[in-house]
Amino acid sequence: MKLTTDSKPLRGCLTMPGDKSISHRAIIFGAIAEGTTEIEGLLKSHDVNATISSFRKMGVLIEETDQKVIVHGQGFSGLKRPQEPLDMGNSGTSIRLLCGLIAGQDWTVTLKGDASLSKRPMDRVAIPLELMGAEISGQGPVKQPPITIKGQSHLKAITYHLPVASAQVKSAILLAALQTKGQTKLVEKAITRNHTEEMIRVFGGQVHQLGKEITIQGPQPLKGQKIKVAGDISSAAFWLVAGLIIPGSDIRLENVGINETRTGILEVIKNMGGQVTIENYDSKNQSAHLRVTYSELRATEISGTLIPRLIDELPIIALLATQAKGQTVIKDAAELRLKETDRIAVVADILKKMGAKVEEKADGMIITGGQELVACQADAQMDHRIGMMAAIAALLVKKGTMTLKGAEAIATSYPNFFADLERLQDD
Ligand code: S3P
Repeated sequence: MKLTTDSKPLRGCLTMPGDKSISHRAIIFGAIAEGTTEIEGLLKSHDVNATISSFRKMGVLIEETDQKVIVHGQGFSGLKRPQEPLDMGNSGTSIRLLCGLIAGQDWTVTLKGDASLSKRPMDRVAIPLELMGAEISGQGPVKQPPITIKGQSHLKAITYHLPVASAQVKSAILLAALQTKGQTKLVEKAITRNHTEEMIRVFGGQVHQLGKEITIQGPQPLKGQKIKVAGDISSAAFWLVAGLIIPGSDIRLENVGINETRTGILEVIKNMGGQVTIENYDSKNQSAHLRVTYSELRATEISGTLIPRLIDELPIIALLATQAKGQTVIKDAAELRLKETDRIAVVADILKKMGAKVEEKADGMIITGGQELVACQADAQMDHRIGMMAAIAALLVKKGTMTLKGAEAIATSYPNFFADLERLQDD
């Protein structure tokens, strides 16, 4: 598709779509709890649909209206063995979390996905789940999908040091541990998003966290709840960056989740001198309105424990760095190479084609700001966040036609992205 270039100032107010990580978990916990769960603000996107349709195939009734999604929970013991392989589409969160859940069931099931998901490693969840007693086979040495899981209802509790900072791996183990007799202990490499731990508590369960150590006692029954999903800061990130880099912009983003395991981007923006203010904080929902205005930016370093707190925002932060004065260093982010695409290579490639100065490193990028961006033919390569990054980058292009191949991928997490862009341009 042809992208909008040479943008006028972006102004106005948007309500952010539901958080993708929380939406997956709301469906999962609704399904494994006993009783009914009512979810408000669920993200309706391809990724979350993969989770919904998988649970329907496991016998869970899920009703969808415009306002709410109602999940008729079956408890861990009420799930049914699916009659066909479960298709996870593009969704890493669905496949990895469901591995943990299915590990504790007496079934053998195959999980598959699209071409992008079929390149992603599943050994990171298979290794701990096999220590607990499940058997998981996949393609090649890192167990790429399709994977087949032989679960069992008598898993063993383990103590496990996660070799990578990954909320998906942590969550898979927690979902298995909830079905396992005894105490499972996890030690994270760095603190990652804690939505699974929060969901366990909201659904009446217990999990303890002390720094990077998490302990959980199983088995634990969970009870259906009313859940309100906050907006996704990973989606808001595109407008935060757009507002900061397009002169004259002033955008208010409503209902953005600001759980502190997710707000690394706000720290980076502050370090770069960007103007973002937090308004109307709602402590129960951990959400707020964010107001962003165009700002003069300086370079920064992004590394260490900050990385898991903004991992999905790094493609758009790389674009932000192209507009800052000086050299921005992103390091300790080798995990980026294992996302929907190799996000270090793909981001560097698109930004370089657009004339930016980007040096690719094994675990990050060095970006020197100040070059004018020019039009190119970008390819999202089935990666929603790459597609949105290219669309925001295009807004800065002054002449020529910029195109994006594979813009459909954006519906993975933000189906209304282009409609929202139009609204900000109309205001
Ligand atoms: C997610 C965890 C992160 C993130 C992904 C969503 C989650 O992945 O990149 O988009 O919902 O748990 P990793 O656990 O692989 O870091």
